Amino acid sequence: MNQMTPPPKIEIIPPSAPFSEAQRSWLNGFFAGLLSADNAPPLSAEQGAAELRGISGDGDDREAPWHDQTMPLADRMKLAEGRPLRRRMMAAMAQQDCGQCGYNCNDYSDAIASKDEARLNLCVPGGKETARMLKALYEELEKAPASSQAPASTAPSVAAMSGRSRDNPVPATFVSRRLLNKPGSEKETWHIDFDLSDCGLDYVVGDSFGVFASNEAGLVDQIIALLGASHVTEVRGKTLREVLIADVSLSPAPDSLFELFSFITGGAQREKARALAQGEDPDGDAATLDVMAALQKFSGARPHPEAFVEALEPLQPRLYSISSSHNATPGKLSLTVDRVRYVVGKRKRLGLASTFLAERINPGDQMKVYVQKAHGFAMPSDPKVPIIMIGPGTGIAPFRAFLFDRKATGATGKNWLFFGHQRSAYDFFYSDELNAMKTSGLLTRLSLAWSRDGDKKFYVQDRMREVGRELWAWLADGAHLYVCGDAKRMAKDVERTLVDIVALHGARSIDQAVSFVAELKKSGRFQQDVY
Ligand SMILES: Cc1cc2nc3c(=O)[nH]c(=O)nc-3n(C[C@H](O)[C@H](O)[C@H](O)COP(=O)(O)OP(=O)(O)OC[C@H]3O[C@@H](n4cnc5c(N)ncnc54)[C@H](O)[C@@H]3O)c2cc1C
Ligand SMILES: NC(=O)c1ccc[n+]([C@@H]2O[C@H](COP(=O)([O-])OP(=O)(O)OC[C@H]3O[C@@H](n4cnc5c(N)ncnc54)[C@H](OP(=O)(O)O)[C@@H]3O)[C@@H](O)[C@H]2O)c1
Repeated sequence: MNQMTPPPKIEIIPPSAPFSEAQRSWLNGFFAGLLSADNAPPLSAEQGAAELRGISGDGDDREAPWHDQTMPLADRMKLAEGRPLRRRMMAAMAQQDCGQCGYNCNDYSDAIASKDEARLNLCVPGGKETARMLKALYEELEKAPASSQAPASTAPSVAAMSGRSRDNPVPATFVSRRLLNKPGSEKETWHIDFDLSDCGLDYVVGDSFGVFASNEAGLVDQIIALLGASHVTEVRGKTLREVLIADVSLSPAPDSLFELFSFITGGAQREKARALAQGEDPDGDAATLDVMAALQKFSGARPHPEAFVEALEPLQPRLYSISSSHNATPGKLSLTVDRVRYVVGKRKRLGLASTFLAERINPGDQMKVYVQKAHGFAMPSDPKVPIIMIGPGTGIAPFRAFLFDRKATGATGKNWLFFGHQRSAYDFFYSDELNAMKTSGLLTRLSLAWSRDGDKKFYVQDRMREVGRELWAWLADGAHLYVCGDAKRMAKDVERTLVDIVALHGARSIDQAVSFVAELKKSGRFQQDVY
């Protein structure tokens, strides 16, 4: 009989590290697995699905080194050079896996490459830059021989289910709004309540809510005046005013609108319009040109209403992290919405959906909505597992939901929330609820960071550093860690801080700490909902 040699016991965590024997043994096992040479990285759910559909039978290694929302498009495309077209399409996405397109970045690109998805303009964070790159890549796809194109997906589609995708929204009733900031704040963030009892939708914590808002009537009327048209001109079987309110985007002026201007103007105006249509910026104002500003810039153009509407993009829904728990309040749904308003030149610009929810919709009104299932943002299935939640600003939304869910289901795991905002006196959202949860013991720890209370900025990651030793102990105890809020700066800074904490308190080099955090992500113990 062959005697199997037992594997050598790997001792990576030194006995002097601040752990119990059980924790040290768990961590040694964890790293042994990580360092094992023949331990192939597990497939993600979407990679597994792609594998099943045969899409990745193109020799690609499935790695996505460009998958970083802070990396500029040109750098992402460089990293994807030489990869199959569907992978280069993925690199063109904004890498937030935000779900606004109805997919994650990988699945959206696979759907385009397999020609299941014809819309190239769905990546909201990528905006016009992504749409232009996708258009160029799609032209390559059209030229490629059919055999090299990805096969059509046979995966069952949720798109057909009522209220489960942007393609099949249902009406829900707006109940109320309540301002979360106190007078004197520089922010305006609203707690919004919906009633789902008529539409029958449900959700789990971590999911987002998609809403179809409409454009502000005042802006629409100004645009109609600039066109020199009548409100009741018929377009697409409706009045021009109805179409401009409900069907088309009036925010960033699309390339096709500048193309239209280039056809109906001449001379220098035509050259300018052509340049803008190609993504150039002849006057240094391209980033600020919404539809109305574009009409003002080409004020002599006066396109025909039908051609004008044709040149605009369809109005897209917006997603919001759900801040309530269906287990705690069945049939009800809450959001936490920061109102977007800013000024360019002399004109006030309004964020479409946030101002719709904050000021234009009235209690009792219905709006089209859907539930967007979270991709990899969910509470641990074991209710005993501790969770650490980091959510400054509106990033608190899903964590309010997590906490109410844990209360409703009697989950016994410890809960630690890091919340931060500008000023403690004005911007402590849900302070009564959170303090009550702390008193009851549901919220084990509440760590706060006020960025504008002192002379120097103080952020959630600064608070994390202060309590790094305890944070590391929670991680060593198996805690899952969640981040929600700003994608561009906060999420990256928090991740860097986490690496530093792991290195300092986990007795590791920075490289080892980076691998540790990467492994937390891979194993689903570090999840993000960032936008
Ligand atoms: C998964 C997910 C969850 C989200 N959860 C939440 C949430 O819980 N709460 C929340 O409030 N938001 C959340 N968002 C963001 C939300 O979807 C919208 O993007 C946000 O409300 C703005 O939408 P809007 O229609 O009001 O503005 P838009 O009409 O889309 O205008 C926003 C655009 O205006 C421009 N802009 C904004 N501010 C300025 C400025 N100061 N100067 C110049 N240009 C500017 C930018 O181009 C910006 O993209 C989430 C997003 C995602 C993807
Ligand atoms: N797509 C959109 O149009 C849209 C709509 C709404 C929100 N957002 C973005 O989503 C994010 C969330 O907005 P919000 O209203 O929830 O609040 P927020 O603007 O993110 O502010 C929340 C807190 O985070 C702080 N903060 C700023 N930079 C940080 C960093 N690098 N690390 C950690 N904390 C940081 C802020 O401090 P200071 O401000 O004092 O620096 C503030 O105290 C913002 O970036 C906002 O621009 C985008």
